[in-house]
Amino acid sequence: MVTSTSISEEDELPISYLFRDFKDMPKLEQKALKLAKGTVLDVGCGAGSHSLYLQNKGLSVKAIDISAGAIAVAKNRGVKFAELKDLLDETETFDTILLLMNGTGIFQELSEVSTYLKHLKSLLNPGGQILIDSSDIKYMYEDEDGGLWIDTHANYYGELDYYLSYKGEEETPMKWLYLDFDMLYKACQTIELSCDKVMDGDHFDYLARLY
Ligand SMILES: C[S@@+](CC[C@H](N)C(=O)[O-])C[C@H]1O[C@@H](n2cnc3c(N)ncnc32)[C@H](O)[C@@H]1O
Repeated sequence: MVTSTSISEEDELPISYLFRDFKDMPKLEQKALKLAKGTVLDVGCGAGSHSLYLQNKGLSVKAIDISAGAIAVAKNRGVKFAELKDLLDETETFDTILLLMNGTGIFQELSEVSTYLKHLKSLLNPGGQILIDSSDIKYMYEDEDGGLWIDTHANYYGELDYYLSYKGEEETPMKWLYLDFDMLYKACQTIELSCDKVMDGDHFDYLARLY
């Protein structure tokens, strides 16, 4: 799959990455799976790799995605409860909600963050948790001398347009939000959601736990 963004050149994402098993997952994702408990909602499940791992461990998992192809693939791979559904249309409640592989991307832009967080909060059982990963992509604006070329009058620097193509077929461009931890923390505070950083990843990324 060929990916690019409004601030970066084309890059290749091997299709096999979407079908990764536990040992090939980044440590942030492995940590999130270890923390998952009770009934689980896997938001933006893609091909269902996280759902399958937890389902095989005996947890009750529901996987949702807005891509019909993703849901078909997840079902084909054995995810028992996979549904074509937008996160904002979900109404059941869960003990753990997973949003992985830049989970904040689904929020699309900074102005939408509190809408999504409020909705996610409403889907939590008492004692429940949201496990979400993202990155501080400030480093992508660094020039060779280490200076930053962020335009402080422009929108938040983590708001990108994301382009995908596969074998020449182009996906409709989408908005994709990378949210640094401080911004996520502040957004959680405004809606009375606790937010802890569970761990940092290898490359400006982090895993957060909201509850
Ligand atoms: C980067 S992929 C991650 C896939 C999977 N979680 C993984 O780690 O392999 C993001 C997924 O979120 C889905 N998605 C985007 N917006 C969504 C929404 N509002 N509700 C549910 N799924 C959404 C996309 O269709 C896509 O499959």
